[in-house]
Amino acid sequence: MTPLRRRSLLAAPAALLPLARALAAAGPDAPEPDAPVPETPGLAAHAAARRRFYGSALYEDALAADPGLLAHVRAECGMLVGEYSFKWASLQPQPGVFRFATAETLMAFAAANRQRVRGHTLVWHEANPQWLLDRLAPATGERLLTGYIAAVAGHFRGRLVHWDVVNEPIHPEDGPPFGLRDTPWLRALGPGYLDLAFHACAAADPGALRMINEFGVDYAIDWQQRRRDKLLELLAHLLARGVPVQAVGLQAHLDAGERALNQTVLARFVADIASLGLKVVVTELDVRDDGLPADIAVRDAAVAAHARAWLDAVLANPAVLGVLSWGLSDRRSWLDQRFPRADGLPQRPLPLDASLRRKPLWSAIAAALAGAPAP
Ligand code: G3I
Repeated sequence: MTPLRRRSLLAAPAALLPLARALAAAGPDAPEPDAPVPETPGLAAHAAARRRFYGSALYEDALAADPGLLAHVRAECGMLVGEYSFKWASLQPQPGVFRFATAETLMAFAAANRQRVRGHTLVWHEANPQWLLDRLAPATGERLLTGYIAAVAGHFRGRLVHWDVVNEPIHPEDGPPFGLRDTPWLRALGPGYLDLAFHACAAADPGALRMINEFGVDYAIDWQQRRRDKLLELLAHLLARGVPVQAVGLQAHLDAGERALNQTVLARFVADIASLGLKVVVTELDVRDDGLPADIAVRDAAVAAHARAWLDAVLANPAVLGVLSWGLSDRRSWLDQRFPRADGLPQRPLPLDASLRRKPLWSAIAAALAGAPAP
């Protein structure tokens, strides 16, 4: 709250004086108090009106520590995904020891609020416990991979709407066939690790939509075109081998400073995925603003316009089932660690600001959902 506004509160009617005193005592840099949950429909309602869903990643610490955020998560989200608790390092930190408690706390929160949950992620080159990396080899890889998936997907059987079975398998610069990333899984098992993972998930939880989740396929620039080409090539190859992939997650970690957003290229990419008989989910939407000036109104407007253009192109295709952002509020974003702004200001990549007020990006997502043809 700016000093001017706080001073005017001190001159407020007697009824407001307790609030005014509290704000005055809080000091010049105290964060604004959490905004109340709006009376108007949330993004989940806007999505549902067009037979889609909207949801968000939830950083699990908030479940015990941030009731203000949770109130808005309840109001805005029809689906949740754990930011960390469904990853191997969290679920099986030691061999043979499964820790489902945090993931189950998220599941209970979602169930209490009639929200669905998507699983993220079974197989990835990150968030693996060290014991796994130490043991992973050609002789052990299949048992480690299929045993883990049977245990984890089996544990959540019937309760998750999606699994990101394999996360971020593409990295053409590495050189292997189909542009596959050179990961411990590829080194231990070859490209067949994807086959094993998808078949194991289909056996353990046939009701969860099985997905490959990928980033860096958003812009009309060479290295991303190569990633789109390789992903499509991989998907066609897997399907030709009878691998039960059902959908693609577009992470959509966007950059408002990127000018090569070409709606025709995007729409064609989504159509190419759909032509393989696959569905699409926007899984981790957020919009970097570290390339933009400090002014908040300028940044918020540019972020909103950029996301709207991207979403309009993607949501035009009925194969796209819904949208999740990678967090709901600027209160916390991985982007502040990964891409810190040179001026030190926190980024503003998400639909609600750090005080839980709806931003232009919130309106852009609502408008894109409302304006898209229903699947
Ligand atoms: O919870 C543990 C804590 O117990 C431990 O003391 C601490 C010590 O390192 O680590 C904590 O876990 C951290 C976890 O986030 C929970 O906060 C991990 O170190 C940290 O690496 C992890 O980072 C997450 C990252 O994925 C790696 O799993 C980020 O929050 C999360 O935003 C990021 O999300 C990824 C998606 O999964 C895939 N797409 C890209 C996206 C952004 O990188």
